[in-house]
Amino acid sequence: MFDVQTYVERRNRLKKKLGSGVVLLLGNEESPMNYPDNPFHFRQDSSFLYFFGLDQPGLAGIIDIDQDRETVFGYDFGVDDIVWMGPQPTLANRTEGAGVEFAEPLEGLEKRIGEVICRGRKVHYLPQYRGDNFGKIEKFTGIAYNYVNAYASVPLIKAVVEQRLIKSEAEVVEIEKALDISYEMYQLVLKLAKPGIYEKEIAGAMEGLVLARGSAISFPIILSIHGEVLHGHSHENLMNEGDIFICDSGAESPLHYASDITRTFPVGEKFTEVQKDVYNVVLQAHDEAITMMKPGISFKEVHLHAAKVIAAGMKNLGFMKGNSDDAIAAGAHALFFPHGLGHAMGLDVHDMEGLGEYYVGYNDKVKRSDQFGLAYLRFAKKLEPGHVMTIEPGIYFMPELVQQWKSQDKHTDFINYDKVEAALGFGGIRIEDDVLVTETGHKVLGEPIPKTVEEIESIKN
Ligand code: GLY
Ligand code: MN
Ligand code: MN
Repeated sequence: MFDVQTYVERRNRLKKKLGSGVVLLLGNEESPMNYPDNPFHFRQDSSFLYFFGLDQPGLAGIIDIDQDRETVFGYDFGVDDIVWMGPQPTLANRTEGAGVEFAEPLEGLEKRIGEVICRGRKVHYLPQYRGDNFGKIEKFTGIAYNYVNAYASVPLIKAVVEQRLIKSEAEVVEIEKALDISYEMYQLVLKLAKPGIYEKEIAGAMEGLVLARGSAISFPIILSIHGEVLHGHSHENLMNEGDIFICDSGAESPLHYASDITRTFPVGEKFTEVQKDVYNVVLQAHDEAITMMKPGISFKEVHLHAAKVIAAGMKNLGFMKGNSDDAIAAGAHALFFPHGLGHAMGLDVHDMEGLGEYYVGYNDKVKRSDQFGLAYLRFAKKLEPGHVMTIEPGIYFMPELVQQWKSQDKHTDFINYDKVEAALGFGGIRIEDDVLVTETGHKVLGEPIPKTVEEIESIKN
């Protein structure tokens, strides 16, 4: 945990922002894999972690703003539990570390919420994503399961997003701890990637390294010679000479802050000429986007600049044609770059996406586009000091998308379909780093992981 004061201050800020009512923050329960006593790896809810720091299942926190009283509800373990789990700290011991005065049995939570509702006071809760917590909100409030998220508190969502989006120095240190593990993961990938190896052998070794560091992956590893599948989690392919592969992965720091890094490497020692050409377009988009990162610039502007570098680069290589600005305005570049430039990162790898992407990356002034490609931009608003964003442009050759657009005669003024079709089978390229917005500009977080063609080929030789 951070020091007690961190959690006390975070809750004080939240109370001040909301002004009145009762905040209910549910922790997560163990999540069974195939029968109740055989759970998945436990992961605490990130907002509960942020405000209370307690990293065990079966907890819930109440912040009564009007009475200025904070309570954590949970279990004290009996001997029957200790027989299986070993000695456990008391609930009171645990809550003391979070600076919470009151610790009460979980059974009392339903009654407490009922009393608040009976008095006509507002219960603020966040959108839920786990079935058992939907069920708890339904039981406590009487709101039907299917309507639980519709009645989540918008003022609470906005207040939590505002706080969690700006990372303190201590939080950035945590992210850098996660990036230290990422650095080691990519050293391992570079060592293992050779013609004749299966994707699963590298992905498995990476996950093993993460576990050996006492950490957990921040999302399932994406590692494939089919880099054109943006979030493919199958690792069954044999990797051959001449292939390139995308590896997109992250780890968690001890306090569960994420890292999120992508590299694209050749399986053999070198990129082919065309792989190198396309790679350098993505790298240019990545580098120029990072250079633009500073307070006050909108992330949409940075995204559109990366799109422009990609459209101009693909025109240079003969895959696109016509005026690049017009191509971007029409959305033609999205055939190759169909996703957003990046996202906020913190306790969640896509930070706070469970609270609603709109609240994280958009606001009343910045509306989401409905154009294919741009619509997937997770964050469009202005950058502020303390934001941690990923920068992850990519170029992909997706056979199904190319066939669909060609059959619809889509953007024929901007796309050389014959040349693109001849290149199908190329796969995809993505390059991702994690960037802190500082008072004056930006800082790329973590030890540099090889990124230029020269750096990569010199290591692989
Ligand atoms: N977690 C995959 C990505 O956004 O990079
Ligand atoms: Mn990633
Ligand atoms: Mn990412």
